[in-house]
Amino acid sequence: MFTILFSSLLAAPAAAISNGLARTPQMGWNNWNSLGCDVSQDLLLDTSKVLLDSGLRDVGYEYVVLDDCWQGERGQNGYITYDEQKFPNGMKYIAGKLHDMGFKYGMYSSAGEMTCARFEGSLDYEKEDAEIYASWDVDYLKYDNCFHMGRFGTAKLSFDRFNAMSQALNATGRPILYSLCNWGEDYVHTWGMSLANSWRVSGDIYDHFDRPDALCSCNDPRDPHCVAPGSHCSVMNIINKVAPYVDRGGPGGWNDMDMLEVGQGGMTDSEYVAHFSMWCALKSALLIGTDLRKLTPNTLTILNNPAVIAVSQDPMGRSATRVRQDFNVKKDKYGQGEIQVWSGPLYPSDQLVILLNAADEDLTMTTDLNEIFVHEGPEGSAPHTKHEYAVYDLWADRMDERQAEKILQGDFKKYQKGWYNSTETPYKEGLTNRDERLMGKKVGTISPKSPELSAKVPRHGVKMYRLVNLSGSSTRYMLHKQEL
Ligand code: GAL
Repeated sequence: MFTILFSSLLAAPAAAISNGLARTPQMGWNNWNSLGCDVSQDLLLDTSKVLLDSGLRDVGYEYVVLDDCWQGERGQNGYITYDEQKFPNGMKYIAGKLHDMGFKYGMYSSAGEMTCARFEGSLDYEKEDAEIYASWDVDYLKYDNCFHMGRFGTAKLSFDRFNAMSQALNATGRPILYSLCNWGEDYVHTWGMSLANSWRVSGDIYDHFDRPDALCSCNDPRDPHCVAPGSHCSVMNIINKVAPYVDRGGPGGWNDMDMLEVGQGGMTDSEYVAHFSMWCALKSALLIGTDLRKLTPNTLTILNNPAVIAVSQDPMGRSATRVRQDFNVKKDKYGQGEIQVWSGPLYPSDQLVILLNAADEDLTMTTDLNEIFVHEGPEGSAPHTKHEYAVYDLWADRMDERQAEKILQGDFKKYQKGWYNSTETPYKEGLTNRDERLMGKKVGTISPKSPELSAKVPRHGVKMYRLVNLSGSSTRYMLHKQEL
């Protein structure tokens, strides 16, 4: 009885913004993390060519998003213009080119008198700006929080300021994905879902796995007085920040843990794999942040793993939750060190398990069926713990770097045949058909007789598994079918 009640509560579909977009977390690229204000028409068009030629578009990276610094003056009529040096053919031209290649076009502004880089903001010009974006055929708006003229400090003040743009976008009649960027302020995780397709939950990410930095404050998400979420937030900082409210995201609206740093050079391969895995498992908006004109084979093999992306794009849209956090491990030079276990439901009746090793050494980590299903019932009372599961390692079939190198040298056509193409076969269909490219590799089974899942996990790395129920339809499947 307890289990059924608990599961049904979790399964209740959340009310979301009604523009019909982002039924799974948005995927794409954004220039800010690698290039800041160095934006231009060429950058956008060259990047989209790389996305296309490397197969990244086909695995789901769809939105090409231009961040700050594109603006010109605001005209007498109230309408914003663009910098004609950087964008000689204008925004509608870029949108057209991107659409021809199968992409969608994203732009940026701020709910303030200026943007964070001190260009014209949209505050009190929401209607004009939304209209002009729609007239340029824009598909996505990232909406920042700088220079808000004091209109923040309570959930209602922030809600109203961001709602003005939400309404203005809706009024254009063009479906425009609305991505809030107020860095987690004013409890955005409690109201973001009502007006946006995603909301940033943290100050800006930086290219470190766990280094604490004074510029990244607001470590306690329950602190209502946190007024400066800042920047220089590490991967572990953001994971720990969002952990208490991962369940606020769902089809139509997602927590945004900020753009990916994968490929930027400041982290090890294991750290980037962990970073990418967690952003997928926690159903964050998934925007590549590196300069793709310099894409390396190693980076490509992280970003293009369809078995891991299928977790992000899972049709149920339920984040994994943390079932264990243990600080009693070796610390690194910053005094940081912990291990975590994460678990959560996957379509159709599977279970995700992540062993996250943020200790300062390689470790053997172990979990078991009782822990994996603790949210379905305590101490092994969940019916799920009575079943047998096949265990699939989602990183086991990671692409070989030599193959990635050939692709980057222009050989994509040769590999296209076996490539997972989500524009033709949506992830839901692939998962329904148990497409082997989405399954990783079977590495064992666990069952009530042998309930432990144990693995060597590299320092600052993860093991990521899909558990497939071998005992027929589970209770979970029956409940979740209604949601799909
Ligand atoms: C920040 C935002 C960044 C980037 C930058 C542009 O507030 O969090 O992601 O958009 O502004 O100035």
